[in-house]
Amino acid sequence: MGKLLISLLSFYLILTAISASASPRLITHLAVSDEVEAAFRNAPSSPSSFLASPTTFFEVQRPIPVPGENPCSTLVLQHDFAYTYGKPPVTAAYSPPSHCFLRRRAPSRIVLEWSAACAGRQFDRIFGVWLAGVELLRSCTAEPRSTGIVWNVRKDVTRYASLFSQPQTLAVYLGNLVDQTYTGIYHVNVSFHFYFDHRQKSPPSSVPAFGSPADMILPISKPLPLNDGLWFQIDNSTDFQGKELAIPRNAYRAALEVYISFHSDDEFWYTNPPNSYISANNLTDVAGNGAFREVTVRLDGNVIGAIWPFTVIYTGGINPLLWRPISGIGSFDLPSYDLEMSPFLEKILDGKMHSFEFGVTDALHVWFIDANLHLWLDRKSPFTEASLIEYKAPAVSSSLISQFKDLDGHFDTNANRKFSASGWVNSSYGNITTHFYQELDFSNRLKFAGNGSIQAVNQSIIYNHGIESMLPSAILYSEEVLQSFPLSLYTRTSDHGSGSYSLISNVTLGFNERKHSGGASGFFFSRLRNLQTGEGVIKVKKNLVTSGLGSTQQIYIYESSEGCYFRNVSSSHYTILYDESEESCSKSSSFRSSEEPSFRWFDA
Ligand SMILES: *[C@@H]1O[C@H](CO)[C@@H](O)[C@H](O)[C@H]1NC(C)=O
Ligand SMILES: *[C@@H]1O[C@H](CO)[C@@H](O)[C@H](O)[C@H]1NC(C)=O
Ligand SMILES: *[C@@H]1O[C@H](CO)[C@@H](O)[C@H](O)[C@H]1NC(C)=O
Ligand SMILES: *[C@@H]1O[C@H](CO)[C@@H](O)[C@H](O)[C@H]1NC(C)=O
Ligand SMILES: *[C@@H]1O[C@H](CO)[C@@H](O)[C@H](O)[C@H]1NC(C)=O
Ligand SMILES: *[C@@H]1O[C@H](CO)[C@@H](O)[C@H](O)[C@H]1NC(C)=O
Ligand SMILES: *[C@@H]1O[C@H](CO)[C@@H](O)[C@H](O)[C@H]1NC(C)=O
Ligand SMILES: *[C@@H]1O[C@H](CO)[C@@H](O)[C@H](O)[C@H]1NC(C)=O
Ligand SMILES: *[C@@H]1O[C@H](CO)[C@@H](O)[C@H](O)[C@H]1NC(C)=O
Repeated sequence: MGKLLISLLSFYLILTAISASASPRLITHLAVSDEVEAAFRNAPSSPSSFLASPTTFFEVQRPIPVPGENPCSTLVLQHDFAYTYGKPPVTAAYSPPSHCFLRRRAPSRIVLEWSAACAGRQFDRIFGVWLAGVELLRSCTAEPRSTGIVWNVRKDVTRYASLFSQPQTLAVYLGNLVDQTYTGIYHVNVSFHFYFDHRQKSPPSSVPAFGSPADMILPISKPLPLNDGLWFQIDNSTDFQGKELAIPRNAYRAALEVYISFHSDDEFWYTNPPNSYISANNLTDVAGNGAFREVTVRLDGNVIGAIWPFTVIYTGGINPLLWRPISGIGSFDLPSYDLEMSPFLEKILDGKMHSFEFGVTDALHVWFIDANLHLWLDRKSPFTEASLIEYKAPAVSSSLISQFKDLDGHFDTNANRKFSASGWVNSSYGNITTHFYQELDFSNRLKFAGNGSIQAVNQSIIYNHGIESMLPSAILYSEEVLQSFPLSLYTRTSDHGSGSYSLISNVTLGFNERKHSGGASGFFFSRLRNLQTGEGVIKVKKNLVTSGLGSTQQIYIYESSEGCYFRNVSSSHYTILYDESEESCSKSSSFRSSEEPSFRWFDA
């Protein structure tokens, strides 16, 4: 067994090395034992049909809007992921299904569907899906139960359309471990659905880059063959990983899409105290380096953008019973992050190799990162010309204030950063000047009380970013995105000795986004408010949850110029308590009054 296996399983060692006294514990992820399953099955409220049918897990997401016609579908991969840890990714040949593309126009929408079934006992496993080395989906498995579970993830992959017109290799890495205790084998199908729209379309924009998928996508990931995921693994703050590549000399727009997930010692990085606290209190089971992390992207050694990631909680995280069957926000479809790279095209249009690297400030083992470079190419000219006008990347400004008496007290970590770049690119579409900016703000209060047995976090990440692209005579495209990621977590641990403990936990997790864009292809606005609250208690023995409960409530309100979606759902003990959903816009706007003052989308 290699180094990776040992580190993935490090939490086993951590949990078995617990002293009987109260002290902060590494917040961890867990699997659920058969006793909990049995308790649920014997509960008087359980209907008898409960035994027979598998539980359907889901992440609340707006259904992907598709044209009315039936899609043309192809099952690309069918595989049982048993002992796959440290093995090569499972691959399948994709070729454009001729029955789909024959004498038809390009698809107007492409949807990836992951459907999976599992029974037994298993941890949550991270996985990735790549086509031609380009990551299409980063996700985490649902944790099974003895009577079986099923779940399905649908993701709009239309932005990767250029890949689908040629034969490609599809790769899936899902590192699963199967033994006598952890028996779950994941049975998986991956399909693509192509939707065609025969209605009259509005004429395409005179500059396709703004409103159409890229002409070419270059992967910044590890190439096959390998015995792992195609992502790079970042272990510490001096570890920069990435690769060199050359791009076509006629690109006139570039955007870098970054996929990120955090694991092991940094799975709950936002709960990590500074190292001084750990050493002062001789703690052995707590991960450190403080509670702030920043992913940076470097082009030839220069930082070209920063990402302060959304705190995805995987299905085994904190209290696994919270995420059954409503999964945590982003857990089945982790967000990716776009950095506009057009201002930097001057640096890479020379046809030579350039290095793209990723790093994580204060990282602990381990972060999985890779990226896709989306490029729009000049169809009428083999060369474009570009120049960087201005580039401002001041360092992060941060502060840490602490107030402590022995184990109890709090840390306040605050950070902010501004980043901007402008540049022009001349092509046969005209001379386009693009400005890209980011404004990031982070605040985290990490509190320890009860002689370290209580740990609480209140955190907010605010990420505002935008693009403005101009022709000499007119604004070509502008986009503004305001995101906020609130998180609050409360845990109280009671140790019962010999590796058993009980844990009370309350979680509030939110993903809010307002977006507006305008250009030749029209105006668009959207607003999403997605909030989960959960509370529960578990008893844990030898890494397994032996009893407990968890309840989750979620409200999802999406309003946009192209439609709305509203969902109000709650679960407890694997049972849906209520589930209300609505796709008409009238319903969601009635909730407007309870929100912050209405946002003015267009001031002009
Ligand atoms: C607090 O915890 C420490 C270390 O875990 C232990 O040595 C100490 O006795 C505890 N203090 C109280 C008041 O319980
Ligand atoms: C995968 O597809 C096969 C063939 O259509 C089907 O029998 C099976 O139930 C599917 N499995 C899952 C997990 O969707
Ligand atoms: C950081 O991680 C890299 C890659 O695992 C390793 O080679 C290097 O020694 C580490 N550096 C420190 C300071 O631990
Ligand atoms: C930490 O451990 C060292 C060495 O084992 C010991 O001398 C010291 O008293 C301990 N400190 C605390 C706060 O327990
Ligand atoms: C801009 O690019 C176009 C097409 O490549 C070219 O014809 C034109 O001369 C360029 N303009 C300038 C000012 O270089
Ligand atoms: C493109 O526009 C910028 C800004 O207006 C100008 O400085 C630059 O010279 C133009 N480039 C070409 C090739 O015309
Ligand atoms: C987090 O915020 C809530 C509500 O404002 C407050 O009750 C709680 O004490 C805060 N927790 C921490 C750790 O600051
Ligand atoms: C945790 O949630 C429970 C149930 O909603 C509530 O009674 C309790 O006050 C919460 N505790 C904290 C510290 O937020
Ligand atoms: C969600 O549904 C519950 C139960 O019906 C209700 O009490 C609550 O007010 C609803 N919330 C919203 C925002 O509709």
